[in-house]
Amino acid sequence: MDTASKGRPIAPPEGKLGVLLPGMGAVATTFIAGVEAVRKGLSRPIGSLTQMGTVRLGKRTDNRAPRIGEFVPLATLDQLEFAGWDVYRDNAYEAARKAGVLSAEHLAAVRPFLEGITPWPAVFDPAYVKKLSGENVKSGKSKRDLAEQVSADIESFRKERRLSRLVMVWCGSTEVYRQAGDVHSTLARFERGLDASDPEILPSMIYAYAAIKAGIPYANGAPNLSADVPALLELARKTGAPIAGKDFKTGQTMMKTVLAPAFKARLLGLEGWYSTNILGNRDGEVLDDPESFKTKEVSKLGVLEHILQPHLYPDLYGKIHHLVRINYYPPRGDNKEGWDNIDIFGWMGYPMQIKVDFLCRDSILAAPIVLDLALFLDLASRSKMSGIQEWLSFYFKSPMTAPGLYPEHDLFIQLMKLKNTLRHLRGEELITHLGLEYYD
Ligand SMILES: NC(=O)c1ccc[n+]([C@@H]2O[C@H](COP(=O)([O-])OP(=O)(O)OC[C@H]3O[C@@H](n4cnc5c(N)ncnc54)[C@H](O)[C@@H]3O)[C@@H](O)[C@H]2O)c1
Repeated sequence: MDTASKGRPIAPPEGKLGVLLPGMGAVATTFIAGVEAVRKGLSRPIGSLTQMGTVRLGKRTDNRAPRIGEFVPLATLDQLEFAGWDVYRDNAYEAARKAGVLSAEHLAAVRPFLEGITPWPAVFDPAYVKKLSGENVKSGKSKRDLAEQVSADIESFRKERRLSRLVMVWCGSTEVYRQAGDVHSTLARFERGLDASDPEILPSMIYAYAAIKAGIPYANGAPNLSADVPALLELARKTGAPIAGKDFKTGQTMMKTVLAPAFKARLLGLEGWYSTNILGNRDGEVLDDPESFKTKEVSKLGVLEHILQPHLYPDLYGKIHHLVRINYYPPRGDNKEGWDNIDIFGWMGYPMQIKVDFLCRDSILAAPIVLDLALFLDLASRSKMSGIQEWLSFYFKSPMTAPGLYPEHDLFIQLMKLKNTLRHLRGEELITHLGLEYYD
């Protein structure tokens, strides 16, 4: 236990950390390939706060800004081991090649490593992801049985690789839209639902249940509910597992949560925000199904309402036309193009327009987020922080919060919250940006 600092006791990151990935598609394989490339000295971990970020400590005049990885005890990249599940049998190399994110040259450099990672059969039912049908799927007597099979996979991985700790990050497809219902309301009801194979228990919930039950931290990179239901939060309180979600904030929504706070800060009004995307990867194909798109749409639409607070600023934000579209367009593959047309108004009501055209690479933006979440959730676990980790909102479109609490969506408030949490963990003074002390 690290007792040198004034902060919380944090168990040291000794031994190997297993990273479990339900869904080994574009994001998961780009993440694994990138970590291996960095380990081999072939690449740099660009986009990762845990690897490249710094944190200011004390006064601006103190000149203390250590790397985050030196300030808090994080697992190193060399300590990571990977495993996952997928509906398709392809090993991580084949899956990465088909995803088409990384060049043949980059893939060749890490090929043997990726070929060594073959997904376990998935807990999957096409009723919940309509556009997929694969052959690498578990069968079982009940959903309880399937959860036990996932637990057995995890335990075999733990033993085989002699892992000290594990984390799970859902990188699977977006499931059809569901709201939390009766079967999700308590742990007892959820467990009865597993026995009865209740149709309202979705595959991602079965993975989340298996992880949280074993005290393994769980993050959800997709917008489907997964662990964001009272039953699984109750389980997390019991086992001490930290939880974070939902839906990686990578491209268009990241830009939205930078621009919208700027308009509000300057009290510029907003009449409408039209966001559209073309995307040609498997994620785009899955989102072409209206039921999976609905899950994504709810996640993408939520941010403006919370940032702009129309109830406080009815004249500026009381009547906004906010639309989000995603079109599956195969020629673009993983290289999504997201357009935003923003109609704002200023002094005396004069209208203005802003156009954003983000030619991004979806999985290139998401991969460092998977890495940071794995390392920060492991830190949370070693620091005995259980349940919802609101300080990791920075990474999500639909951040999980305590019941009754609205989420913070502003990217820079989220970053401040994250860094203040790290300062808090180490017993350093929180930074308020008041700054009066420099003028006293
Ligand atoms: N890339 C981004 O910028 C980004 C941003 C936010 C959210 N996401 C979400 O992350 C997830 C992964 O994105 P991707 O681009 O890698 O998609 P992908 O389609 O390439 O990969 C998802 C993989 O999950 C597998 N899968 C589906 N259901 C499964 C199940 N029940 N068990 C195991 N495997 C299952 C699929 O077979 C597929 O290989 C998607 O839900 C996506 O919406 C991605």
